[in-house]
Amino acid sequence: MKILGISGSPRKEDVSGTHQLVRTVLEASGCDYELVSLRKKQISGCIACLGCVKDNVCKVKDDLEPIREKIVNADAFVIGASNYYSTLNAITHAFLERWFQFRHQEGNLLWGKLGVAVGVGGSAGQAPADEIEKFFLYNFIETVAKVSGQGAASCFSCGYGETCKVGLPYLLYGEGVKITPEDIPDVKKQPKVIESAVDAGKLLGQRLKNNHDRHAVTKKIQEKMMSLLKSSV
Ligand SMILES: Cc1cc2nc3c(=O)[nH]c(=O)nc-3n(C[C@H](O)[C@H](O)[C@H](O)COP(=O)(O)O)c2cc1C
Repeated sequence: MKILGISGSPRKEDVSGTHQLVRTVLEASGCDYELVSLRKKQISGCIACLGCVKDNVCKVKDDLEPIREKIVNADAFVIGASNYYSTLNAITHAFLERWFQFRHQEGNLLWGKLGVAVGVGGSAGQAPADEIEKFFLYNFIETVAKVSGQGAASCFSCGYGETCKVGLPYLLYGEGVKITPEDIPDVKKQPKVIESAVDAGKLLGQRLKNNHDRHAVTKKIQEKMMSLLKSSV
């Protein structure tokens, strides 16, 4: 059983909360895994050319091309994104838009697989985790857990964080805020967040090793999607 981990943060791996949480989930799974960072990759959004409808292969030539095989071959996914403007950061959104290539006809390349959604934000990471869950749903992938944490907004290191009135330090702590290393949010310093990442990894590992039935998962997710669509029209 192999899990593909995707860290969508454009920041260096050692400072990215997203990267750290995705890695924690993967390590706790006890399964083989590969962790791919989207940092510095050039990946455009879907251009709706429909070049993929016959063979489920995207025809856009960029850095997603070599990752396609890894997506197809994985049994499960741990995907993490940074919270930018209360949603997914752009490259993670572009990356997931391009999964449109897997959805045509009997597009069962991803159907019934399992996923964990990870989100990290300067205040909270719930929003990107919820968005990733929706992308999973559109590909009939079951979200077995969501993990969210608070990372270090760039305002803590930009040099103006103590005086800037639109920056997160001011918005979180108010007038006269002083930035000390102890105050800088870091997922590693959030035991409950790390615990939830470990629990998510363990659950994913158990589900994969315990006769994971892709057909049954597909049916369940398909039914969920149909009832969501019916209730929205
Ligand atoms: C362009 C931009 C927009 C952001 N918008 C938000 C936001 O709306 N909400 C939030 O909680 N954090 C926001 N942040 C802060 C990031 O989510 C935070 O730095 C987080 O740690 C990023 O994840 P990473 O550590 O994996 O890079 C924003 C950061 C940038 C650069």
